[in-house]
Amino acid sequence: MTEAPSNPPGEMAVGRTALRDRDGPAIEVRGLRSAFGDHMVHENLDLTVSRGEILGVVGGSGTGKSVLLNTIIGLRQPDAGTVKVFGQSLRRASKKRWDELERAWGVLFQGGALFSNLTVRENVTAPMFEHTKLSRRDANELADLKISMVGLRPEAGALKPSELSGGMRKRAGLARALALDPELLFLDEPTSGLDPIGAAGFDELIRDLADSLDLTVFMITHDLDSLYEITDRVAVLADGKVVATAPVAELEASDHPWIREYFLGPRGRAARAARSEQRAGGTKS
Ligand SMILES: Nc1ncnc2c1ncn2[C@@H]1O[C@H](COP(=O)(O)OP(=O)(O)OP(=O)(O)O)[C@@H](O)[C@H]1O
Ligand SMILES: [Mg+2]
Repeated sequence: MTEAPSNPPGEMAVGRTALRDRDGPAIEVRGLRSAFGDHMVHENLDLTVSRGEILGVVGGSGTGKSVLLNTIIGLRQPDAGTVKVFGQSLRRASKKRWDELERAWGVLFQGGALFSNLTVRENVTAPMFEHTKLSRRDANELADLKISMVGLRPEAGALKPSELSGGMRKRAGLARALALDPELLFLDEPTSGLDPIGAAGFDELIRDLADSLDLTVFMITHDLDSLYEITDRVAVLADGKVVATAPVAELEASDHPWIREYFLGPRGRAARAARSEQRAGGTKS
């Protein structure tokens, strides 16, 4: 053999970093204030996300869920307060630490945000070229692995986003979010726009990936079925704060008016009924 063997794709230590071995929560937000002019979105917001959990994030439209996500990944500076990811304060992070952090998380933005002029495979390899020195051949091989991990057929790699269905686009976005083997996955409304069967399939995929890849997941969603199906805890945003963080079953007993309306209103009741029916039928493990 004349050429040095390349690492098998599954074994490439692309994104797992020294950050992984630290103790403490995956995300810690303290006293966050976010304002646009005199429009206060967050005021004294605290949130802790434990390692390995799937945290659902809910709140009315415009309560600042996406702004919170953008702040945690450093796309937006807090107007006050601190954000730590894997114990690292974002404000104090050196360039090297930033690079480590960016490799340690993957993001599926609201709406997917794929590069429309690139194929799915090129979308998935883009972060690899940005953060690693992988050869094109290895990156392509790794991208194909990610594409199959999210349940897309291999042919999908050669398609442009406009040639995909909404559900396929979400999966492609997820493949890109997983490109660097992140340990923390951010999802902004991953099932919005999908039909109930597509949404249920996507939920199952997230749960399976989270289990098998040992991920911590921060998932913004309006989808009550997702909350019941896959989250360990749910954080509720209201009045500029996280007003509760608890498993759904505990939130059902909350006396906060928005939480009561959300979980005990008609849609909440339907999601809960579907869940108990499924359990009674033993269709879910
Ligand atoms: N770049 C910006 N400039 C000014 N205001 C902004 C900007 N980004 C967000 N906002 C405002 O911040 C508030 C929170 O927005 P955000 O997108 O976080 O809401 P959301 O909870 O994600 O809502 P949705 O459920 O509809 O996605 C909104 O009132 C929005 O208008
Ligand atoms: Mg949003």
